Amino acid sequence: MFVGAKAEHRGLVDRAIGHVYRSYVPADAPYYVTLDRIHQHVRPRGYLEVGVYRGLALALALPGTRAVGIDPDPHVAFPLTRRARVVQDSSDDAFAVRDLWRLLGRKPLDLAFIDGRHLFEFALRDFMNIERLAHPGTVVLLHDCLPHDERSASRARETQLWSGDVWKLIPTLRKWRPELQVHVIDVAPAGLGIISGLVPGNRVLERHYDEIVRNAADIHYQLLVDEGPVKVLNSVPGDWGTVKGLLPERPFRQVPITVLTAWRAAWAWLVHLAGRRAERGASGIGATIFRRAYNGST
Ligand SMILES: C[S@@+](CC[C@H](N)C(=O)[O-])C[C@H]1O[C@@H](n2cnc3c(N)ncnc32)[C@H](O)[C@@H]1O
Repeated sequence: MFVGAKAEHRGLVDRAIGHVYRSYVPADAPYYVTLDRIHQHVRPRGYLEVGVYRGLALALALPGTRAVGIDPDPHVAFPLTRRARVVQDSSDDAFAVRDLWRLLGRKPLDLAFIDGRHLFEFALRDFMNIERLAHPGTVVLLHDCLPHDERSASRARETQLWSGDVWKLIPTLRKWRPELQVHVIDVAPAGLGIISGLVPGNRVLERHYDEIVRNAADIHYQLLVDEGPVKVLNSVPGDWGTVKGLLPERPFRQVPITVLTAWRAAWAWLVHLAGRRAERGASGIGATIFRRAYNGST
């Protein structure tokens, strides 16, 4: 009886604090809810995101996680946690010249999200660079692996919802790196790849880079139509039970999740209120908090 009541109470608290973030999520992009649940389950020590844009996904990083976002043209509009940094560079440049290990506070990279340039070879290089920073328990997420149709999957952007040919990285990894666990979660609007079992010292992709890129040009959207996403992409349903089964069993940080989400929500509200004061031209601590939360660029 007591345990049930406690569980119900916790559910209410979770829902209330989750609301701060869930209310930002566009109805047609429920994958943000999946991303949030992955953050809450994995509780990464270090998190790296390629492609930040307005920072909605980066703002999901929990307090205490060292979060680094990379984007040559960020427009951060969501409150990032105090430990988040945005590197204003293309991912190729950032991986080549920035000391990302230091920016991650020398914390292990437990979770990464690739959502930058929507072209196969960019996503491939992002994956290769992330694997170098990773450890065998790192989880890599890859957006846009389940394109709607041929136009949204083309290399030239012709549609509002554009996935590009990033999806080709999934059959490529399954071919060249059969030891990896590679799946695509079927979550709207365009699926989320999930890759684990990384081997940081593996250089197969690097050694065969030119051949892999040439081969990818011969993979066509029709393959997905003819053979289906289950066969080509190892796609799985997007329900939480299935997604959880693809993640490490235990979180990397042992801090209770209710503490982390409450803290994150309180920070978001503080930044929100400070922002309203800053908009009215107020100076002082509120405006400082606001500027700090939105301008974590480095
Ligand atoms: C789809 S948005 C990212 C959205 C963000 N991940 C989110 O869910 O809130 C793609 C972003 O990738 C950035 N981008 C484009 N080329 C890039 C590159 N070479 N390296 C890193 N980011 C890149 C764009 O500037 C854009 O802001």
